[in-house]
Amino acid sequence: MNTLQSKKILLIISGGIAAYKSLELIRLLKKAGAGVRCILTQGGAKFITPLSVSALSGEQTHTDLWSLKDETEMGHIRLSRESDLIVVAPASASFIAKMAFGLADDLGTAALLAADKPVLVAPAMNHMMWNHPATQENIGTLMRRGVKTAGPCAGDMACGETGIGRMAEPEEILTSIRAHFERAKKLSGLRALVTSGPTFEPIDPVRFIGNRSSGKQGHAIAAALASCGADVTLVSGPTALPDPASVKTIHVETADEMISACRAAAPADIAICAAAVADWKPAQTQKKKIKKDKNAPPTLTLTENPDILSALAQPGPRRPRLVIGFAAETENILESAHAKRMKKKCDWIVANNVGTKEKIFGSDGNHVHLITASGQMEWRGSKKDIADRLVLEIMDHFKNLKLSEAAE
Ligand code: PMT
Repeated sequence: MNTLQSKKILLIISGGIAAYKSLELIRLLKKAGAGVRCILTQGGAKFITPLSVSALSGEQTHTDLWSLKDETEMGHIRLSRESDLIVVAPASASFIAKMAFGLADDLGTAALLAADKPVLVAPAMNHMMWNHPATQENIGTLMRRGVKTAGPCAGDMACGETGIGRMAEPEEILTSIRAHFERAKKLSGLRALVTSGPTFEPIDPVRFIGNRSSGKQGHAIAAALASCGADVTLVSGPTALPDPASVKTIHVETADEMISACRAAAPADIAICAAAVADWKPAQTQKKKIKKDKNAPPTLTLTENPDILSALAQPGPRRPRLVIGFAAETENILESAHAKRMKKKCDWIVANNVGTKEKIFGSDGNHVHLITASGQMEWRGSKKDIADRLVLEIMDHFKNLKLSEAAE
C-alpha cells in the first residue's frame, strides 16, 4: 500500500543552494500521491522562484507572513494545522537556530511555532557551520523536542569544501517521510494506558505528601505511543507539563483518583505505570488547616494507598496484554526491580536508578534497565530516547504476538 497516498505535506524551503533539490522532492511527493503545500522563505526565494514551486506543487506558494491576501485566505495557522507532516528542506543553519529559539518572524517559523504536527528537517549547510557547537546544540534541542532529521550527508559542497553538511538527496528525504508514516501506524488499533507524574496526598487544605516526579518520563512515553498510532489515555498526577498532542489526558491528584481514572479507562492492550504514586496517605485529611500553636507538632498516621500497577496486572479477562511497571530504586537496583516485577506481576519492569549520583527526578535524561522475562537491556539518554526505545520494544512484542497468533 502507498503510505503517502493523500497525505498532506507542508514543505518549508529555506535559503540554501540545495533549494533547487526541493523542486525534485515536490515532484517525488506528488508522484507518490501526496498533496504538497509550500512556504518559500525570503532566503529560499533567492535560489528558486515561487513560480517554479507552484508549477510543480500545483498550489499557490506562500511567502509572506504579512500578506493580507495570504493570511485572509489561508493563514499560517491553517497552513500548519491542515498538514499531516511539516518538512523543512533545505533547513539552513539560520532557520534551524530560529526554530530552536522559537522565533516566529517569517511565515515559515510562524507556521512551525503554531504547529501541532510532526516535523522533519533536512539540514543543508557548510560543514563548519554544521559542526559548529551552536548548530549542534540547536539541532539537539530540536531532536529532544521530537523533530526528526534526514541527513545531512557527507560529500562535496557547493562552496568547494568537503564534509558533512550536504542536504540528503530528495529520494532519501522521501524514504524518511515514508518511514515516518509507516511508523505512525505500527501500534494503530491498540489502546494504551499510561500513568505519569506524582500523586499529592492531602494532609489538610494546604499541605500534602508528594514527591519529586515531574512527569517528563511518563508523558514522553504517552507521546511516543501516540506517535506510533496507539490510542493513548494518560492519567497524570500534578505536573507543570503541557498535555501531549493526540493523547487523552486525565488529570488527577491522589492515588485513589488515579486508580479510579485507570479503571475507567480500561480495557487497554498496554498499561505502563511510570507514575510515582505515594505509597502512603494520611489516614485522615483535616478539613481545616492544622494550626501551628504551642502544642507539639502533630503526629501523622499513615495508611497504605492502593497499588495501581498490581491492580492492573492481576490476572483476569480485563488484564492488559502487556503490563509494564517502573521501579525507582536507590540501591541494589536490578535485584530490587526484579523482585518488584515478580511481586507486582507485571510483564516488564523499567529499573530506574534514582540514587543521589544520577539525578533522574525532574531532569531531561534517564538511565534505565528494561527487565523482561527473557533478559534485560540498559539504556541511557534523554527521557524521549528512553520512551522511543521502550516503544520499539513494545512494537516488537506485538509484532511477535501477531506472528505467533497467525501461526496457531
Ligand atoms: O517523572 P520524572 O521526573 O520524569 O521521573 C521519572 C520517574 C523516576 C518518576 C519514573 O521513571 C519512575 O521511576 N517511576 C516509578 C516511580 C515509583 O513510584 O517507583 P516505585 O518503585 O515506588 O513503584 C513501582 C511501580 O509501582 C511503579 O510502576 C509505580 O507507578 C507503581 N505503583 C507504586 C505504588 C502505588 N501505590 N501504585 C503504583 O502503581
